[in-house]
Amino acid sequence: MQVEEGRAKIKFSDGTFYNPNMRGLRDISVLFLKAVGKKRYSLLDATSATGIRGIRYALEAGAGKTTYLDMNKKAYADTKLNVKRNKLKGTIFNLDIQEFANSSEESFDVIDLDPFGSVAPYVYDLMKVAKDGTILMATATDAAVLCGAHYSACLKIYASQPLNNELCQEVGTRILINFIARIAAQLNFGIEVKLAISNLHYMRVFLVLHHGAENAVESIKQTGFGAFCSKCRAFYSSKGLAPKLNGKCANCGAETIPFGPIWLGNIYDHALLRKMKIMMPKGMDKNAIKLLRTVDLELDTPFFYSIPKLTRYLGISSVPRKRVLDKLGKKYEVSGTHFDPDGIKTDAPIKKILGSVKGAAT
Ligand SMILES: C[S@@+](CC[C@H](N)C(=O)[O-])C[C@H]1O[C@@H](n2cnc3c(N)ncnc32)[C@H](O)[C@@H]1O
Repeated sequence: MQVEEGRAKIKFSDGTFYNPNMRGLRDISVLFLKAVGKKRYSLLDATSATGIRGIRYALEAGAGKTTYLDMNKKAYADTKLNVKRNKLKGTIFNLDIQEFANSSEESFDVIDLDPFGSVAPYVYDLMKVAKDGTILMATATDAAVLCGAHYSACLKIYASQPLNNELCQEVGTRILINFIARIAAQLNFGIEVKLAISNLHYMRVFLVLHHGAENAVESIKQTGFGAFCSKCRAFYSSKGLAPKLNGKCANCGAETIPFGPIWLGNIYDHALLRKMKIMMPKGMDKNAIKLLRTVDLELDTPFFYSIPKLTRYLGISSVPRKRVLDKLGKKYEVSGTHFDPDGIKTDAPIKKILGSVKGAAT
């Protein structure tokens, strides 16, 4: 098979992974690195498959010394050929991440991790080849686990209680970030989240590692817990390692569902997102553009309200989301959210939100 993507031309054999549907996410990653603006940085494409990521970062986003890793023999061979085919230089290893990270004496400016399923088994080892300022970009495709469809798996892998409802994508993303923060802290790194997105079957986080015990403690302090009311859809969250949440909904009195631990810190660097918007290249994947435009306008606050869920609770027919946004926007901060096309983020109290939804129906 042969494909062209961005400025890369790649070929691959049967048995080497390449998913054309993830092109948009690769476009976003290239744009992210371009907007960060590092030059000639060292890069580890830790799960290279065809080598498409490392190759694109080198061709389009300023990567210098590039190292590729894949434990699959065919992927290793294809990466080698593709690096050459694109007239690039690179060091290519047919090794498992664990083996590589425990024997490497190098540390990298940028690490891309994109395994099959969970990133959990690899985060600890990759911290050993990170340094102060390393950018870690990691994709998790075990969204069903993080979204609570496999509750016990989430407990076992992430030591966190997920939420299997309209908030699951955002809660899952925050579970993933909190997991990375906890592992990073063990190796004396704090994390600064630049961007976190969830779409289709994946979650992808873009973060910077800051070395030092104080940084590590600071990011652990962004850990918290949440509680969700499945009757009126209100949610509550509180930072800290010992949950301070009430078991009853302050709005309707129903019992709430607890979830977490999760990351309750910021998940967007809006200045960087604005830069990315300006730098969007021609020919970028349309869905990726749409996703980034939504994220760019999204409030950086935990969780959102799904309008259809609120109308169901109120027993009224559907209302256009825009009308609710307009009504609430007169007095409060409001935005849509990429986590749910029917969702709104706002700092308005739940009673005002319900009032606006009712008002939008009349
Ligand atoms: C989803 S694919 C990567 C796709 C690629 N990043 C892209 O955008 O097309 C996952 C790759 O990671 C490799 N892999 C999985 N676990 C690994 C490990 N522990 N060490 C090294 N490679 C691994 C697999 O062999 C596979 O080629």
